Amino acid sequence: MTIEAAASNSLLADTAAGPVIHPRWVRVTHWINALAMLLLIGSGWQIYDAAPLFGFEFSHHIALGEWLGGALLWHFAAMWLLVINGLVYVALGILTGRFRRKLFPIRPREVVGDFVAALRGRLAHDDLAVYNAVQKLLYLGILLTGFVIVLSGLSIWKPVQFQHLTSFFGGYNTARYVHFAAMTAIVAFLVVHVTIAVLVPKSLRAMLTGR
Ligand code: HEM
Repeated sequence: MTIEAAASNSLLADTAAGPVIHPRWVRVTHWINALAMLLLIGSGWQIYDAAPLFGFEFSHHIALGEWLGGALLWHFAAMWLLVINGLVYVALGILTGRFRRKLFPIRPREVVGDFVAALRGRLAHDDLAVYNAVQKLLYLGILLTGFVIVLSGLSIWKPVQFQHLTSFFGGYNTARYVHFAAMTAIVAFLVVHVTIAVLVPKSLRAMLTGR
């Protein structure tokens, strides 16, 4: 049996409790990713404060790690969590066919239509198993942003060992701006993402229980 067939047999099977919307591997990797991201963002803000790129600093009340050394320890620990967990999620997303089924195709006309419907509060959430076009675009976008933040992070962590990567990003300083921009995109995504999870509680329940 192919991985894909096994996935549709076991992961999407209808049971008395209803169909599985998010299989266990999606839920486990999603929540580990959320924890790793929050640790990385908080400690990243503390690290940024040691050498700000812009004319502001993050309040130490919302930053993690007390000081630069502490924040770096948090950042590198959470980095491994994010990378290992992210590789498992992406590998399973591809091998089980979940990404192909859930995130594609993305049609610009549907994105515009669903975005307008969402602004008018008329976007249906009846079938949680099917992502609307705006969700597909956002989830794909955040996956790509995940790659950018990891790769730009590697190029500022080890600019000598990863010198080709660092020059791909336009050098050490530019890679810092790219890393910051990716963090900003993830924080903006999180604000929208968590707001929607609160507004549509059954989607949160499905990401917790699977159904
Ligand atoms: C910490 C707060 C978070 C909450 C409460 C939350 C909640 C949720 C919920 C309820 C869903 C299901 C959405 C649906 O059915 O439409 C979901 C899916 C998803 N979330 Fe989050 N999330 C959080 C953090 C994150 C972070 C930090 C990321 C990435 C940076 C992320 C990326 C995703 C992705 C890619 C999916 C789709 C997963 C798939 O179907 O394979 N989430 N989240």
